[in-house]
Amino acid sequence: MKNPQTMPEFPTAFSWGVATSAYQIEGAADVDGRGPSIWDTFTHTAGTIIDGSTGDVACDHYHRYVDDVAIIADLGLKAYRFSVSWSRVQPLGYGDWNEKGFAFYASLLDQLEKHGIAAHLTLYHWDLPQGLQDRGGWLNRETTLRFAEYAAEIAHRFGHRVVSIATHNEPWCTANLGYGNAQFAPGVADTALAAQVSHHLLLSHGLALQAMRAQNCPAKLGIVLNQWPAMPATDKAADVAEAEWEYARSVQWFMDPIFKGSYPQKALDRMDLSRFHVHAEDMEIIRQSLDFLGVNYYFRAFVSTDNPPKQPEGKLGFSDMGWEVYPSGLTDLLLKLHAEYENLPPIYITENGMAVADKMEDGKIHDEQRIAYLKMHLQALHEAMRCGVNVQGYFYWSLLDNFEWNSGYAKRFGLVHVDYETQQRTLKESAHWYRDFVSKQPQAK
Ligand code: FCB
Repeated sequence: MKNPQTMPEFPTAFSWGVATSAYQIEGAADVDGRGPSIWDTFTHTAGTIIDGSTGDVACDHYHRYVDDVAIIADLGLKAYRFSVSWSRVQPLGYGDWNEKGFAFYASLLDQLEKHGIAAHLTLYHWDLPQGLQDRGGWLNRETTLRFAEYAAEIAHRFGHRVVSIATHNEPWCTANLGYGNAQFAPGVADTALAAQVSHHLLLSHGLALQAMRAQNCPAKLGIVLNQWPAMPATDKAADVAEAEWEYARSVQWFMDPIFKGSYPQKALDRMDLSRFHVHAEDMEIIRQSLDFLGVNYYFRAFVSTDNPPKQPEGKLGFSDMGWEVYPSGLTDLLLKLHAEYENLPPIYITENGMAVADKMEDGKIHDEQRIAYLKMHLQALHEAMRCGVNVQGYFYWSLLDNFEWNSGYAKRFGLVHVDYETQQRTLKESAHWYRDFVSKQPQAK
Protein backbone atom coordinates (compact mmCIF):
# COMPACT_ATOMS: atom_id res chain seq x y z
CA MET A 1 0.00 0.00 0.00
CA LYS A 2 1.33 3.40 -0.96
CA ASN A 3 1.52 6.25 1.50
CA PRO A 4 -2.12 7.05 2.29
CA GLN A 5 -1.33 10.75 2.06
CA THR A 6 -0.66 10.68 -1.68
CA MET A 7 -3.98 10.41 -3.41
CA PRO A 8 -4.06 9.34 -7.03
CA GLU A 9 -5.78 11.14 -9.87
CA PHE A 10 -8.76 9.44 -11.51
CA PRO A 11 -9.94 9.93 -15.10
CA THR A 12 -11.83 13.10 -16.01
CA ALA A 13 -15.11 11.36 -16.75
CA PHE A 14 -15.07 9.33 -13.52
CA SER A 15 -18.31 9.61 -11.51
CA TRP A 16 -18.07 10.48 -7.83
CA GLY A 17 -21.11 9.77 -5.75
CA VAL A 18 -22.86 8.41 -2.70
CA ALA A 19 -25.42 5.63 -2.33
CA THR A 20 -28.56 5.00 -0.28
CA SER A 21 -31.57 2.68 -0.45
CA ALA A 22 -35.28 3.29 -0.04
CA TYR A 23 -36.15 1.33 3.08
CA GLN A 24 -33.04 2.51 4.89
CA ILE A 25 -33.74 6.24 4.56
CA GLU A 26 -37.24 7.10 3.32
CA GLY A 27 -39.49 6.37 6.31
CA ALA A 28 -43.08 7.45 5.52
CA ALA A 29 -43.93 3.76 5.61
CA ASP A 30 -47.67 4.20 5.22
CA VAL A 31 -47.84 7.63 3.64
CA ASP A 32 -49.45 8.46 0.28
CA GLY A 33 -50.62 4.95 -0.46
CA ARG A 34 -47.39 3.01 0.01
CA GLY A 35 -48.05 -0.68 0.59
CA PRO A 36 -46.07 -2.73 3.12
CA SER A 37 -42.93 -4.57 2.07
CA ILE A 38 -41.37 -7.67 3.60
CA TRP A 39 -39.06 -5.39 5.58
CA ASP A 40 -42.05 -3.69 7.24
CA THR A 41 -43.37 -7.07 8.25
CA PHE A 42 -39.95 -8.29 9.38
CA THR A 43 -39.05 -5.23 11.47
CA HIS A 44 -42.44 -5.36 13.16
CA THR A 45 -41.76 -8.94 14.24
CA ALA A 46 -40.20 -9.17 17.71
CA GLY A 47 -36.59 -10.31 17.93
CA THR A 48 -35.53 -9.62 14.35
CA ILE A 49 -33.68 -6.29 14.72
CA ILE A 50 -30.89 -5.82 17.28
CA ASP A 51 -32.27 -2.57 18.73
CA GLY A 52 -35.91 -3.40 18.09
CA SER A 53 -36.21 -0.55 15.59
CA THR A 54 -38.05 -0.28 12.27
CA GLY A 55 -37.77 1.77 9.09
CA ASP A 56 -41.12 3.49 9.77
CA VAL A 57 -39.42 6.88 10.05
CA ALA A 58 -35.74 6.15 9.31
CA CYS A 59 -34.12 9.40 8.05
CA ASP A 60 -37.51 10.80 7.03
CA HIS A 61 -35.97 11.31 3.61
CA TYR A 62 -39.44 11.13 2.04
CA HIS A 63 -40.11 14.56 3.54
CA ARG A 64 -36.52 15.87 3.54
CA TYR A 65 -35.28 14.83 0.10
CA VAL A 66 -34.91 18.45 -1.05
CA ASP A 67 -32.43 19.16 1.75
CA ASP A 68 -30.72 15.80 1.34
CA VAL A 69 -30.11 16.38 -2.36
CA ALA A 70 -28.79 19.84 -1.48
CA ILE A 71 -26.25 18.12 0.80
CA ILE A 72 -25.07 15.91 -2.08
CA ALA A 73 -24.68 19.03 -4.20
CA ASP A 74 -22.86 20.83 -1.39
CA LEU A 75 -20.39 17.93 -1.26
CA GLY A 76 -19.61 18.60 -4.91
CA LEU A 77 -20.79 15.14 -5.98
CA LYS A 78 -22.26 14.62 -9.41
CA ALA A 79 -23.76 11.14 -8.97
CA TYR A 80 -26.33 9.65 -6.62
CA ARG A 81 -27.39 6.03 -6.33
CA PHE A 82 -30.79 5.37 -4.73
CA SER A 83 -33.44 2.68 -4.91
CA VAL A 84 -37.15 2.77 -5.60
CA SER A 85 -39.49 1.25 -3.04
CA TRP A 86 -41.53 -1.09 -5.22
CA SER A 87 -44.50 -1.09 -2.82
CA ARG A 88 -44.56 2.71 -2.89
CA VAL A 89 -45.21 2.73 -6.63
CA GLN A 90 -47.21 -0.52 -6.75
CA PRO A 91 -48.62 -1.24 -3.29
CA LEU A 92 -49.20 -4.96 -3.81
CA GLY A 93 -46.42 -5.69 -6.30
CA TYR A 94 -49.06 -6.44 -8.89
CA GLY A 95 -52.16 -4.60 -10.10
CA ASP A 96 -52.63 -0.88 -9.61
CA TRP A 97 -49.83 1.66 -9.76
CA ASN A 98 -49.68 4.38 -7.12
CA GLU A 99 -49.31 7.78 -8.80
CA LYS A 100 -48.32 9.49 -5.55
CA GLY A 101 -45.43 7.09 -5.22
CA PHE A 102 -44.21 7.88 -8.72
CA ALA A 103 -44.64 11.59 -7.97
CA PHE A 104 -42.17 11.31 -5.10
CA TYR A 105 -39.46 9.82 -7.33
CA ALA A 106 -40.24 12.35 -10.07
CA SER A 107 -39.69 15.16 -7.53
CA LEU A 108 -36.48 13.54 -6.34
CA LEU A 109 -35.26 13.44 -9.96
CA ASP A 110 -36.27 17.11 -10.37
CA GLN A 111 -34.01 18.02 -7.45
CA LEU A 112 -31.12 15.96 -8.78
CA GLU A 113 -31.50 17.56 -12.21
CA LYS A 114 -31.63 21.01 -10.68
CA HIS A 115 -28.20 20.38 -9.13
CA GLY A 116 -26.76 18.57 -12.16
CA ILE A 117 -26.46 15.28 -10.26
CA ALA A 118 -26.69 12.09 -12.33
CA ALA A 119 -29.27 9.62 -11.04
CA HIS A 120 -28.42 5.92 -10.72
CA LEU A 121 -31.56 3.97 -9.88
CA THR A 122 -31.81 0.51 -8.33
CA LEU A 123 -35.10 -1.34 -8.77
CA TYR A 124 -34.79 -3.78 -5.93
CA HIS A 125 -32.92 -3.20 -2.69
CA TRP A 126 -34.52 -6.09 -0.76
CA ASP A 127 -37.99 -4.63 -0.11
CA LEU A 128 -40.40 -6.98 -1.88
CA PRO A 129 -44.04 -5.87 -1.64
CA GLN A 130 -45.72 -7.95 1.07
CA GLY A 131 -48.54 -8.59 -1.40
CA LEU A 132 -46.14 -10.65 -3.50
CA GLN A 133 -44.68 -12.38 -0.45
CA ASP A 134 -48.21 -13.49 0.38
CA ARG A 135 -48.22 -15.23 -3.01
CA GLY A 136 -44.95 -17.05 -2.36
CA GLY A 137 -42.40 -14.25 -2.83
CA TRP A 138 -39.17 -15.11 -4.62
CA LEU A 139 -39.89 -18.83 -4.30
CA ASN A 140 -42.75 -18.35 -6.71
CA ARG A 141 -41.59 -18.19 -10.33
CA GLU A 142 -44.48 -15.78 -11.05
CA THR A 143 -42.70 -13.10 -9.03
CA THR A 144 -40.07 -12.90 -11.78
CA LEU A 145 -42.80 -11.82 -14.23
CA ARG A 146 -44.15 -9.21 -11.83
CA PHE A 147 -40.62 -7.84 -11.40
CA ALA A 148 -40.22 -7.51 -15.18
CA GLU A 149 -43.51 -5.56 -15.36
CA TYR A 150 -42.34 -3.26 -12.58
CA ALA A 151 -38.99 -2.76 -14.35
CA ALA A 152 -40.74 -1.90 -17.62
CA GLU A 153 -42.94 0.67 -15.88
CA ILE A 154 -39.98 2.36 -14.23
CA ALA A 155 -38.04 2.32 -17.51
CA HIS A 156 -41.02 3.84 -19.29
CA ARG A 157 -41.46 6.63 -16.75
CA PHE A 158 -37.90 7.36 -15.70
CA GLY A 159 -35.55 5.65 -18.16
CA HIS A 160 -34.80 8.94 -19.92
CA ARG A 161 -34.10 10.77 -16.65
CA VAL A 162 -31.54 8.44 -15.09
CA VAL A 163 -28.04 7.45 -16.16
CA SER A 164 -28.35 3.85 -15.05
CA ILE A 165 -30.84 1.30 -13.80
CA ALA A 166 -29.69 -1.71 -11.79
CA THR A 167 -32.12 -4.58 -11.45
CA HIS A 168 -31.05 -6.10 -8.13
CA ASN A 169 -28.88 -4.98 -5.27
CA GLU A 170 -26.87 -7.87 -3.85
CA PRO A 171 -29.05 -10.86 -4.74
CA TRP A 172 -26.60 -12.93 -2.66
CA CYS A 173 -28.09 -11.25 0.44
CA THR A 174 -31.70 -11.61 -0.67
CA ALA A 175 -31.16 -15.33 -1.13
CA ASN A 176 -28.70 -16.26 1.60
CA LEU A 177 -29.65 -13.89 4.41
CA GLY A 178 -33.36 -13.77 3.55
CA TYR A 179 -33.77 -17.50 2.96
CA GLY A 180 -30.50 -19.15 4.03
CA ASN A 181 -30.02 -18.01 7.63
CA ALA A 182 -33.07 -15.84 8.41
CA GLN A 183 -31.04 -12.74 9.29
CA PHE A 184 -32.99 -10.67 6.77
CA ALA A 185 -36.60 -10.52 5.60
CA PRO A 186 -38.54 -12.68 5.09
CA GLY A 187 -36.63 -14.58 7.77
CA VAL A 188 -36.47 -18.13 6.39
CA ALA A 189 -33.58 -20.49 7.23
CA ASP A 190 -33.37 -23.21 4.57
CA THR A 191 -30.41 -23.33 2.21
CA ALA A 192 -32.25 -25.44 -0.35
CA LEU A 193 -34.83 -22.67 -0.67
CA ALA A 194 -32.08 -20.05 -0.84
CA ALA A 195 -30.67 -21.75 -3.94
CA GLN A 196 -34.03 -21.64 -5.67
CA VAL A 197 -34.56 -18.01 -4.68
CA SER A 198 -31.17 -17.05 -6.13
CA HIS A 199 -32.17 -18.64 -9.43
CA HIS A 200 -35.44 -16.73 -9.52
CA LEU A 201 -33.62 -13.49 -8.74
CA LEU A 202 -31.26 -14.07 -11.66
CA LEU A 203 -34.15 -15.02 -13.90
CA SER A 204 -36.04 -11.88 -12.90
CA HIS A 205 -32.92 -9.86 -13.69
CA GLY A 206 -32.81 -11.30 -17.23
CA LEU A 207 -36.53 -10.79 -17.77
CA ALA A 208 -36.32 -7.23 -16.47
CA LEU A 209 -33.46 -6.37 -18.84
CA GLN A 210 -35.47 -7.76 -21.75
CA ALA A 211 -38.55 -5.81 -20.67
CA MET A 212 -36.63 -2.54 -20.25
CA ARG A 213 -34.85 -2.95 -23.57
CA ALA A 214 -38.21 -3.58 -25.23
CA GLN A 215 -39.05 -0.03 -24.07
CA ASN A 216 -35.90 1.27 -25.78
CA CYS A 217 -34.79 2.44 -22.37
CA PRO A 218 -31.90 4.89 -22.90
CA ALA A 219 -30.42 4.34 -19.41
CA LYS A 220 -27.49 1.97 -18.95
CA LEU A 221 -28.78 -1.33 -17.62
CA GLY A 222 -27.01 -3.65 -15.20
CA ILE A 223 -26.98 -5.35 -11.81
CA VAL A 224 -25.24 -4.73 -8.48
CA LEU A 225 -23.44 -7.67 -6.87
CA ASN A 226 -21.68 -7.84 -3.51
CA GLN A 227 -18.40 -9.59 -3.98
CA TRP A 228 -15.28 -10.59 -2.11
CA PRO A 229 -12.12 -12.41 -2.96
CA ALA A 230 -11.91 -15.62 -0.90
CA MET A 231 -8.51 -16.14 0.67
CA PRO A 232 -7.40 -19.34 2.41
CA ALA A 233 -6.15 -18.80 5.96
CA THR A 234 -3.16 -21.05 5.26
CA ASP A 235 -1.80 -22.82 2.18
CA LYS A 236 -3.11 -26.18 3.46
CA ALA A 237 -4.93 -27.99 0.64
CA ALA A 238 -8.15 -28.10 2.66
CA ASP A 239 -8.16 -24.32 3.21
CA VAL A 240 -7.37 -23.64 -0.44
CA ALA A 241 -10.18 -25.93 -1.61
CA GLU A 242 -12.60 -24.36 0.84
CA ALA A 243 -11.70 -20.86 -0.37
CA GLU A 244 -12.34 -21.94 -3.96
CA TRP A 245 -15.74 -23.26 -2.96
CA GLU A 246 -16.55 -20.05 -1.13
CA TYR A 247 -15.65 -17.99 -4.21
CA ALA A 248 -17.69 -20.30 -6.44
CA ARG A 249 -20.83 -20.15 -4.36
CA SER A 250 -20.74 -16.41 -3.74
CA VAL A 251 -19.08 -14.61 -6.66
CA GLN A 252 -19.18 -17.12 -9.54
CA TRP A 253 -22.69 -18.22 -8.59
CA PHE A 254 -24.01 -14.89 -9.88
CA MET A 255 -21.31 -13.92 -12.38
CA ASP A 256 -21.22 -17.19 -14.33
CA PRO A 257 -24.94 -17.34 -15.22
CA ILE A 258 -24.86 -13.67 -16.28
CA PHE A 259 -21.64 -13.74 -18.27
CA LYS A 260 -21.25 -17.42 -19.22
CA GLY A 261 -24.81 -18.74 -19.16
CA SER A 262 -24.22 -21.55 -16.63
CA TYR A 263 -23.86 -22.13 -12.90
CA PRO A 264 -20.36 -22.98 -11.65
CA GLN A 265 -19.98 -26.76 -11.30
CA LYS A 266 -17.85 -26.37 -8.18
CA ALA A 267 -20.75 -24.72 -6.40
CA LEU A 268 -23.40 -27.07 -7.76
CA ASP A 269 -21.36 -30.05 -6.50
CA ARG A 270 -21.82 -29.07 -2.87
CA MET A 271 -25.21 -27.38 -2.81
CA ASP A 272 -28.53 -28.73 -1.70
CA LEU A 273 -30.32 -28.89 -5.03
CA SER A 274 -33.42 -30.66 -3.76
CA ARG A 275 -35.56 -27.57 -4.47
CA PHE A 276 -33.55 -26.26 -7.42
CA HIS A 277 -35.59 -26.08 -10.64
CA VAL A 278 -34.16 -24.47 -13.75
CA HIS A 279 -36.24 -24.40 -16.93
CA ALA A 280 -34.58 -25.06 -20.27
CA GLU A 281 -34.88 -21.45 -21.44
CA ASP A 282 -33.75 -19.79 -18.20
CA MET A 283 -30.01 -19.62 -18.72
CA GLU A 284 -30.33 -17.81 -22.04
CA ILE A 285 -32.71 -15.31 -20.45
CA ILE A 286 -30.26 -14.67 -17.62
CA ARG A 287 -27.35 -14.15 -20.01
CA GLN A 288 -28.30 -10.65 -21.24
CA SER A 289 -25.55 -8.27 -22.18
CA LEU A 290 -24.97 -5.65 -19.48
CA ASP A 291 -24.10 -1.99 -19.95
CA PHE A 292 -22.44 -1.93 -16.53
CA LEU A 293 -21.69 -4.13 -13.56
CA GLY A 294 -22.07 -2.68 -10.08
CA VAL A 295 -19.66 -4.09 -7.51
CA ASN A 296 -20.18 -3.59 -3.79
CA TYR A 297 -17.01 -4.24 -1.83
CA TYR A 298 -16.67 -4.29 1.94
CA PHE A 299 -14.29 -7.12 2.96
CA ARG A 300 -12.55 -10.30 1.86
CA ALA A 301 -13.61 -13.81 2.85
CA PHE A 302 -10.92 -15.32 5.08
CA VAL A 303 -11.43 -19.05 4.82
CA SER A 304 -10.23 -21.59 7.36
CA THR A 305 -11.16 -25.24 7.87
CA ASP A 306 -9.78 -25.27 11.44
CA ASN A 307 -12.11 -25.67 14.36
CA PRO A 308 -12.52 -23.01 15.62
CA PRO A 309 -11.70 -21.28 12.32
CA LYS A 310 -8.58 -19.10 12.15
CA GLN A 311 -9.44 -15.40 12.19
CA PRO A 312 -7.77 -12.71 10.07
CA GLU A 313 -5.18 -10.62 11.86
CA GLY A 314 -6.85 -7.42 10.81
CA LYS A 315 -3.64 -5.39 10.48
CA LEU A 316 -5.68 -2.39 9.34
CA GLY A 317 -8.37 -2.92 11.92
CA PHE A 318 -12.05 -3.82 11.86
CA SER A 319 -15.14 -1.72 11.32
CA ASP A 320 -17.92 -1.31 13.88
CA MET A 321 -19.67 -4.17 12.03
CA GLY A 322 -16.69 -6.37 12.90
CA TRP A 323 -15.70 -6.42 9.22
CA GLU A 324 -11.96 -6.57 8.53
CA VAL A 325 -10.58 -3.50 6.76
CA TYR A 326 -8.86 -5.05 3.75
CA PRO A 327 -8.46 -2.56 0.88
CA SER A 328 -6.13 -4.66 -1.27
CA GLY A 329 -8.96 -7.19 -1.55
CA LEU A 330 -10.71 -4.68 -3.81
CA THR A 331 -7.74 -4.65 -6.19
CA ASP A 332 -7.50 -8.45 -6.10
CA LEU A 333 -11.19 -8.88 -6.73
CA LEU A 334 -11.31 -6.50 -9.68
CA LEU A 335 -8.24 -8.03 -11.29
CA LYS A 336 -9.71 -11.48 -10.88
CA LEU A 337 -13.01 -10.48 -12.51
CA HIS A 338 -11.11 -8.77 -15.30
CA ALA A 339 -9.08 -11.94 -15.94
CA GLU A 340 -12.01 -14.37 -15.66
CA TYR A 341 -14.78 -12.68 -17.64
CA GLU A 342 -13.94 -11.66 -21.17
CA ASN A 343 -17.16 -9.75 -21.77
CA LEU A 344 -17.02 -7.69 -18.58
CA PRO A 345 -18.76 -4.32 -19.09
CA PRO A 346 -17.56 -1.11 -17.40
CA ILE A 347 -17.73 -1.37 -13.63
CA TYR A 348 -19.08 1.04 -11.03
CA ILE A 349 -18.12 0.57 -7.41
CA THR A 350 -21.72 0.97 -6.29
CA GLU A 351 -20.97 0.61 -2.56
CA ASN A 352 -17.94 0.75 -0.30
CA GLY A 353 -17.90 2.22 3.16
CA MET A 354 -17.30 1.78 6.85
CA ALA A 355 -19.40 1.71 10.01
CA VAL A 356 -17.72 3.64 12.81
CA ALA A 357 -18.95 4.19 16.37
CA ASP A 358 -18.97 7.94 15.70
CA LYS A 359 -19.09 10.37 18.59
CA MET A 360 -20.27 13.95 18.30
CA GLU A 361 -17.83 16.28 20.09
CA ASP A 362 -18.43 20.04 20.09
CA GLY A 363 -20.78 19.56 17.18
CA LYS A 364 -18.16 17.71 15.15
CA ILE A 365 -17.55 14.08 14.25
CA HIS A 366 -13.87 13.31 13.94
CA ASP A 367 -14.14 10.05 12.02
CA GLU A 368 -10.47 9.61 11.11
CA GLN A 369 -10.96 5.86 10.71
CA ARG A 370 -13.48 6.43 7.95
CA ILE A 371 -11.18 8.90 6.20
CA ALA A 372 -8.32 6.37 6.33
CA TYR A 373 -10.68 3.69 5.00
CA LEU A 374 -11.72 5.89 2.12
CA LYS A 375 -8.15 6.81 1.22
CA MET A 376 -6.97 3.21 1.23
CA HIS A 377 -9.89 1.93 -0.81
CA LEU A 378 -9.59 4.69 -3.38
CA GLN A 379 -5.91 3.88 -3.75
CA ALA A 380 -6.73 0.18 -4.10
CA LEU A 381 -9.33 1.02 -6.72
CA HIS A 382 -6.92 3.21 -8.61
CA GLU A 383 -4.36 0.41 -8.61
CA ALA A 384 -6.87 -1.96 -10.27
CA MET A 385 -7.62 0.71 -12.88
CA ARG A 386 -3.91 1.22 -13.51
CA CYS A 387 -3.72 -2.52 -14.21
CA GLY A 388 -6.42 -2.21 -16.87
CA VAL A 389 -9.78 -2.67 -15.13
CA ASN A 390 -12.40 -0.33 -16.60
CA VAL A 391 -14.07 1.35 -13.60
CA GLN A 392 -16.20 4.42 -14.25
CA GLY A 393 -17.46 5.52 -10.87
CA TYR A 394 -17.36 5.20 -7.10
CA PHE A 395 -20.30 5.56 -4.71
CA TYR A 396 -19.55 5.80 -1.01
CA TRP A 397 -21.97 3.88 1.22
CA SER A 398 -23.69 5.88 2.54
CA LEU A 399 -24.70 9.52 2.23
CA LEU A 400 -26.47 9.40 5.61
CA ASP A 401 -26.39 7.27 8.71
CA ASN A 402 -29.43 5.08 8.24
CA PHE A 403 -31.38 1.95 9.13
CA GLU A 404 -28.74 -0.76 8.84
CA TRP A 405 -31.08 -3.75 8.42
CA ASN A 406 -30.91 -6.20 11.32
CA SER A 407 -28.42 -3.88 13.08
CA GLY A 408 -31.09 -1.18 13.24
CA TYR A 409 -29.74 2.31 13.92
CA ALA A 410 -26.82 1.01 15.96
CA LYS A 411 -24.35 1.09 13.05
CA ARG A 412 -23.40 4.35 11.37
CA PHE A 413 -22.06 4.28 7.79
CA GLY A 414 -22.84 7.86 6.75
CA LEU A 415 -20.62 10.68 5.61
CA VAL A 416 -23.38 12.71 7.22
CA HIS A 417 -24.44 12.13 10.82
CA VAL A 418 -28.16 11.85 11.53
CA ASP A 419 -29.60 12.68 14.93
CA TYR A 420 -32.62 10.40 14.90
CA GLU A 421 -34.42 12.44 17.56
CA THR A 422 -34.33 15.70 15.66
CA GLN A 423 -33.44 14.46 12.13
CA GLN A 424 -30.63 16.99 12.11
CA ARG A 425 -27.90 16.28 9.58
CA THR A 426 -24.26 17.11 10.40
CA LEU A 427 -21.38 16.66 8.01
CA LYS A 428 -18.69 14.41 9.48
CA GLU A 429 -15.00 15.15 8.92
CA SER A 430 -15.06 12.37 6.31
CA ALA A 431 -17.65 14.31 4.31
CA HIS A 432 -15.34 17.32 4.30
CA TRP A 433 -12.44 15.10 3.29
CA TYR A 434 -14.41 13.49 0.44
CA ARG A 435 -15.56 16.88 -0.82
CA ASP A 436 -12.02 18.19 -0.80
CA PHE A 437 -10.67 15.06 -2.52
CA VAL A 438 -13.32 15.12 -5.24
CA SER A 439 -12.82 18.85 -5.82
CA LYS A 440 -9.17 18.16 -6.68
CA GLN A 441 -10.02 15.48 -9.23
CA PRO A 442 -10.01 16.47 -12.89
CA GLN A 443 -13.55 17.46 -13.83
CA ALA A 444 -15.21 17.24 -17.23
CA LYS A 445 -15.88 20.76 -18.51
C1 FCB B 1 -24.76 -3.68 1.81
C2 FCB B 1 -26.16 -3.20 1.51
C3 FCB B 1 -26.44 -1.82 2.02
C4 FCB B 1 -25.83 -1.57 3.37
C5 FCB B 1 -24.37 -1.94 3.37
C6 FCB B 1 -23.66 -1.68 4.67
O1 FCB B 1 -24.73 -5.06 1.86
O2 FCB B 1 -26.39 -3.22 0.13
O3 FCB B 1 -27.84 -1.64 2.03
O4 FCB B 1 -26.53 -2.25 4.33
O5 FCB B 1 -24.23 -3.29 3.04
